[in-house]
Amino acid sequence: ASPKYRFLRQQGLQPARQLPSALIIGVKKGGTRALLEFIRIHPDVRAAGSEVHFFDKHYSKGFEWYRHHMPLTLEGQITIEKSPSYFITKEAPHRVQHMNPSTKLLVVVRDPVTRSISDYTQAASKKPEMKPFEQLAFINSSIDTSWGPIKLGIYARYLIRWLKYFPLSQFLFVSGERLIVDPAIELKRVQDFLGLKRVVTEKHFYFNSTKGFPCLFKSEGRSFPHCLGKTKGRNHPFINPVVLQKLRDFYRPFNNRFYQITGINFGWS
Ligand code: A3P
Repeated sequence: ASPKYRFLRQQGLQPARQLPSALIIGVKKGGTRALLEFIRIHPDVRAAGSEVHFFDKHYSKGFEWYRHHMPLTLEGQITIEKSPSYFITKEAPHRVQHMNPSTKLLVVVRDPVTRSISDYTQAASKKPEMKPFEQLAFINSSIDTSWGPIKLGIYARYLIRWLKYFPLSQFLFVSGERLIVDPAIELKRVQDFLGLKRVVTEKHFYFNSTKGFPCLFKSEGRSFPHCLGKTKGRNHPFINPVVLQKLRDFYRPFNNRFYQITGINFGWS
């Protein structure tokens, strides 16, 4: 960069696109959109609006391609991207490490049973002829662990792959449940982890009882109260309680393993 460019950039006058220094890597249906929308309220955060899918689908296009999909930032602003498929993509950990070994990794996790129903509900909304959850979850009366909505909930298995490339200290695990019940607490943790001033606080949120979720008074793009879109916070179908219990029993050892690795008990039972 020329001295004039560097000067303007330091003065905060020259915007530029930067590769992300932090990624929301997952998990699908964990609350990743909510986290991205909440953290990007922060004036020192700029985020790619839609999922770029660089580390899974577009890696061969190269880092310059990726950088061009990032928003403009001023000196001192950090760039964030979220694509929840990264968490389960085999190649993603070493690719992210190759981009920048100090990349900060955010993972929103949620009770894998609820997550599986959320995942199913999303798929069923696109495919009306979809069979009931109870049918798809089992194969010959045992749990079908190859079915995406169930497989993805074995968080420990995917995390172990990432830990071959990144130390645990570079991860922040956000509770998807707490992000709904008390978004400000989770956002405080996220801002501290990213080295940001605590700007996003309880003052930014209100609970919309019609939607049943926290919503924002204002955000980067909108200065009026609004909630996330209709595809976030869907009604889930009723699931046979016997099936739910079987799923809980199935996930228990994997959840415990995940608590053990992360050192956090997320309290799913
Ligand atoms: P449901 O639609 O099944 O309730 P993702 O953005 O990763 O796809 O996650 C979607 C989930 O985010 C939603 O799943 C919802 O439970 C959760 N969520 C968390 N905070 C939310 C909020 N403030 N508004 C809407 N959904 C939120």
